[in-house]
Amino acid sequence: MAAPGRGRAGSAAPALAAAVLVSLCLAAVSEEEQLENLRFVRHAQDAPAVSSYNYIVIGGGTAGCPLAATLSEHSRVLLLERGGLPYANMSSEQHFTDALADTSPASPAQRFISEDGVVNARARVLGGGSCLNAGFYTRASNEYVRAAGWDARLVNSSYRWGERSLVFRPDVPPWQAALRDALLEAGVTPDNGFTFDHVTGTKIGGTIFDNSGQRHTAADFLRHARPRGLTVLLYATVSRILFRRQDGVAYPVAYGVVFTDPLGAQHRVYLRDGAKNEVIVSAGTLGSPQLLMLSGVGPQAHLEAHGIEVLVDQPMVGQGVADNPMNSVFIPSPVPVELSLVQVVGIPRSGSFIEGVSGSEFGMPVSDGALRWARSFGMLSPQTGQLGTLPPKQRTPEALQRAAEAMMRLDRRAFRGGFILEKILGPVSSGHIELRTADPRANPAVTFNYFREAEDLERCVHGVETIERVIQSRAFSNFTYANASVESIFTDSANFPVNLLPRHANDSRSPEQYCKDTVMTIWHYHGGCHVGAVVDDDYRVFGVQGLRVIDSSTFKYSPGTNPQAPVMMLGRYMGVKIQAERWRK
Ligand SMILES: Cc1cc2nc3c(=O)[nH]c(=O)nc-3n(C[C@H](O)[C@H](O)[C@H](O)COP(=O)(O)OP(=O)(O)OC[C@H]3O[C@@H](n4cnc5c(N)ncnc54)[C@H](O)[C@@H]3O)c2cc1C
Ligand SMILES: *[C@@H]1O[C@H](CO)[C@@H](O)[C@H](O)[C@H]1NC(C)=O
Ligand SMILES: *[C@@H]1O[C@H](CO)[C@@H](O)[C@H](O)[C@H]1NC(C)=O
Ligand SMILES: *[C@@H]1O[C@H](CO)[C@@H](O)[C@H](O)[C@H]1NC(C)=O
Ligand SMILES: *[C@@H]1O[C@H](CO)[C@@H](O)[C@H](O)[C@H]1NC(C)=O
Ligand SMILES: *[C@@H]1O[C@H](CO)[C@@H](O)[C@H](O)[C@H]1NC(C)=O
Repeated sequence: MAAPGRGRAGSAAPALAAAVLVSLCLAAVSEEEQLENLRFVRHAQDAPAVSSYNYIVIGGGTAGCPLAATLSEHSRVLLLERGGLPYANMSSEQHFTDALADTSPASPAQRFISEDGVVNARARVLGGGSCLNAGFYTRASNEYVRAAGWDARLVNSSYRWGERSLVFRPDVPPWQAALRDALLEAGVTPDNGFTFDHVTGTKIGGTIFDNSGQRHTAADFLRHARPRGLTVLLYATVSRILFRRQDGVAYPVAYGVVFTDPLGAQHRVYLRDGAKNEVIVSAGTLGSPQLLMLSGVGPQAHLEAHGIEVLVDQPMVGQGVADNPMNSVFIPSPVPVELSLVQVVGIPRSGSFIEGVSGSEFGMPVSDGALRWARSFGMLSPQTGQLGTLPPKQRTPEALQRAAEAMMRLDRRAFRGGFILEKILGPVSSGHIELRTADPRANPAVTFNYFREAEDLERCVHGVETIERVIQSRAFSNFTYANASVESIFTDSANFPVNLLPRHANDSRSPEQYCKDTVMTIWHYHGGCHVGAVVDDDYRVFGVQGLRVIDSSTFKYSPGTNPQAPVMMLGRYMGVKIQAERWRK
């Protein structure tokens, strides 16, 4: 492989460009240096004002990258991504919180706060959520595959295609091993060992962090692309899909898109002639419904209120958006704990999944400012909005800052330990996405309605009860203080100050109230373009032609233990299906 930074612009052979792309997330080189080596990846401002392709994929994320790489095998494909290349400092496990704590307009994580009051984040980078996430990798269950109506054999070969280049077996440190044994002792059985499958019991799952802690991302799939078949544009924000009426076709037909580069110039891309060419939206749960609405496909009255010309009145666009609520408990440890993101998961029958992240003491430079502090905090920190120190509606930026400062003043030993968290299946509760403005760069307004349905709250309570059994287990005893009762961990803020739980006048600890007050996100939000409501079984958008949506916005329930594997799989799976359709006579 060529040394990064040595390539000359425009002169690298395609094979060389593809080889260098492998190290996209790994190389500690500047973006300019990386770009020089990547022939098919360019800045949007260098793109022509007008161009044409067989497929235009909008969103270079977790689904969009494998999809574009696959389609490029036999066609000319344009992949449009609003963000840049993954930063070198997003590439390792230790830096998990860096992007999430960065709220600047250039951050690869765009912060949003749902109407529920929970701080959340969405990707703005090539590779999408796979550049930000905790890396845990697990497939959807066989029942989920059946219910989705997917072809199970193609599903499995699509998973394998991704797993070959991206997925690793984690080195399990003692804290995670104790969590696994504790889950088994707490009755979350059987022991499923190491597996990618989503099955009841306790398992070690896969991870996209390799054994040196380096992240691999969906952007790595682009190395499987045919370099001549693919163009990737960075910092290309799509503002609209173009439609026209066509003789003999009942519906409006997508024929191109408009995108804006960072200098503000608009570019147009058209589909080449041919009925099989398509625009495919893979802009994620927030981005896909937003872009359909901006293009005139959505609820009529809502679009009119924003001055958008209505092409198809589609009331279901933006509906059925859901986020699996997450609640966590910090368990202080008498002994130092290594850093780990999610590796072990307990899946009890009650419909809540138990996971853990440890090592918040890691590299703690106490005197070095808030950002370093966030970094040292493992997965959950006040800077990222991921700590249930206040009920959702009270989590203003000022309040989060105060919480962060209060934590700064604590003794560092208070942070030695790990979080055990639970997220629930489904969920059943759902909400909606609405435009705030017609600006494609702005976040839409998102409402998840956490715990609106009693079933979800019951699942959370079961999850918290399982966590309590884990804390009290013999297997976990090396990582808890002997004098720390479950009750004290939850309520004794003098001795256990990291779980700064909201206190109520009655001061009784109701598990239901605990679930509501400490709710956070595990970022598994999905929906907004459901199959059967906005897209058909082949992911074609109802009411128009030449347009599909392929990403997490099409899911009714979050697949698998955590969703990234099914999202990547879907990108590959649909790429293979669309190619087969193209060449079928
Ligand atoms: C912090 C975090 C931790 C997570 N942890 C895990 C985990 O451990 N395991 C797991 O399985 N899952 C995890 N997830 C969830 C998982 O990563 C997501 O479900 C998945 O990445 C969603 O993929 P997607 O393709 O639907 O969207 P994304 O990957 O978000 O891709 C959408 C892309 O579209 C681009 N885009 C949007 N609008 C436009 C536009 N108008 N023009 C051009 N481009 C646009 C975005 O910039 C983005 O790159 C986590 C997610 C986050 C954020
Ligand atoms: C990460 O690296 C980029 C450049 O590679 C830099 O601009 C950014 O400030 C860094 N972020 C953090 C949180 O260190
Ligand atoms: C697909 O793989 C799963 C394991 O992940 C297995 O249980 C299932 O039987 C496989 N399906 C087919 C059709 O091969
Ligand atoms: C606790 O730690 C000690 C010393 O490392 C070890 O021998 C023991 O097996 C551990 N206990 C459990 C339950 O893992
Ligand atoms: C528990 O024990 C630790 C030392 O082992 C001590 O520092 C702490 O104050 C004790 N907590 C309580 C509630 O007694
Ligand atoms: C305790 O008070 C809170 C409000 O402060 C209330 O929502 C909750 O239902 C009360 N719990 C009990 C058990 O009474």
